[in-house]
Amino acid sequence: MVKICCIGAGYVGGPTMAVIALKCPSVEVAVVDISVPRIDAWNSDQLPIYEPGLDDVVKECRGRNLFFSTDVEKHVSEADIVFVSVNTPTKTQGLGAGKAADLTYWESAARVIADVSKSNKIVVEKSTVPVKTAEAIEKILTHNSKGIKFQILSNPEFLAEGTAIKDLFNPDRVLIGGRETPEGQKAIQALKDVYAHWVPEDRILTTNLWSAELSKLAANAFLAQRISSVNAMSALCEATGANISQVAYAVGTDSRIGPKFLNGSVGFGGSCFQKDILNLVYICECNGLPEVAEYWKQVIKINDYQKSRFVNRVVASMFNTVSSKKIAILGFAFKKDTGDTRETPAIDVCKGLLGDKARLSIYDPQVTEDQIQRDLTMKKFDWDHPLHLQPMSPTTVKQVTVVWDAYEATKDAHGICILTEWDEFKTLDYQRIYEGMQKPAFVFDGRNIVDAEKLREIGFIVYAIGKPLDAWLKDMPAIA
Ligand code: NAI
Repeated sequence: MVKICCIGAGYVGGPTMAVIALKCPSVEVAVVDISVPRIDAWNSDQLPIYEPGLDDVVKECRGRNLFFSTDVEKHVSEADIVFVSVNTPTKTQGLGAGKAADLTYWESAARVIADVSKSNKIVVEKSTVPVKTAEAIEKILTHNSKGIKFQILSNPEFLAEGTAIKDLFNPDRVLIGGRETPEGQKAIQALKDVYAHWVPEDRILTTNLWSAELSKLAANAFLAQRISSVNAMSALCEATGANISQVAYAVGTDSRIGPKFLNGSVGFGGSCFQKDILNLVYICECNGLPEVAEYWKQVIKINDYQKSRFVNRVVASMFNTVSSKKIAILGFAFKKDTGDTRETPAIDVCKGLLGDKARLSIYDPQVTEDQIQRDLTMKKFDWDHPLHLQPMSPTTVKQVTVVWDAYEATKDAHGICILTEWDEFKTLDYQRIYEGMQKPAFVFDGRNIVDAEKLREIGFIVYAIGKPLDAWLKDMPAIA
């Protein structure tokens, strides 16, 4: 029986391994982590992450051929294939601070593999890593190997949170990079055999190691670039009277461009896009390509611009101050159908409003008060470390309350900011909400999900990203 071990039981390690266990009953899969609460949660009825469909998959396999454990050494030593899916945060200190990937966790995982291995192993990079990481990992493993042979593969993960199970069941492609030696090719084949249990062969792409590593960074950079492109256009739409939805539809019907990922919004978030682009920028700079680095940097700059533009719209519309005004924040997760708040645009928007002394009442169907307080007090990039190693702030933000109902959040509020596109926000009783609010009552739709015309009929003043401006907003300056 093939034994797989995955180091790192996070958003990637947990769901990917659960799906491998489901689709390959003949493979034994152990997911290990240094975080005891995380493993306890994976072994409980309350999984540590919210992902549609995940509960069913885990319930079916857990205890059969899927195991969650903190005994990293035992499971690594027994495995034929070791996936590494640990955090790869952005460095906050030293060489490359603010851009380069911090490979501390990766390196320590590699050292454990080298220390405890008693048989040859295939080591698979699942985390997103800088190009040429495999070379460094190979060196750590071979210099500590005591004669054991390791083959390194790059198998980056392309799942999207919120649709992870669907994506894993039916991936656009699985990418496997390896050495172009006979041993490297044999290792690629062994991993291919695992995926071939459910992924059609023509969707399993094989490349050299460096192409696979770079393809993941490139794919995320392209996706983020689409969002920044459409958001850059949204600013121009507001200035000219064009409508971003109409422009995006007209652009997206060109088959060379395609319709996906063209929604104007308050900006992208999530654990990967910004981190991976910063990483790409750093790699370009290190390779003497400053023009290429500058090009990709702009994608992040536009994203930051979009968030501050949104805050400025809110403040400018409400008579240039939100001091002591209650503002309801609907949605805090970086997108719908996940509880993940890493790099969510809501953090910067809330911080911007708090900077102008607003009082915030926040509601998100999947995010806890504790998480929101942590996010609003944590320093940049600190979120991307194992939970028990994250520095805790001794304070909480007093002007913030977190409630479990959109109606409670909006009661007596002066304005509403919609920051996540949760379906339930489309069908709220806005008439009832309007009646409970201070007047004039404002809605700032950062996701373009409400029917602005209907809301205007009720009496709201509405701002929707990239849409023709309400007469109220036309004379208000909103330059970031
Ligand atoms: P995560 O933070 O949810 O999980 C990482 C886990 O690794 C944590 O539970 C941590 O305790 C554990 N860990 C760290 N060092 C360890 C060690 N030495 N031994 C054992 N466990 C250790 O992170 P997530 O989101 O799963 O991301 C993992 C990697 O996958 C990152 O490189 C990320 O960029 C990449 N990725 C993430 C995607 C996403 O949608 N979240 C998608 C594709 C790639």
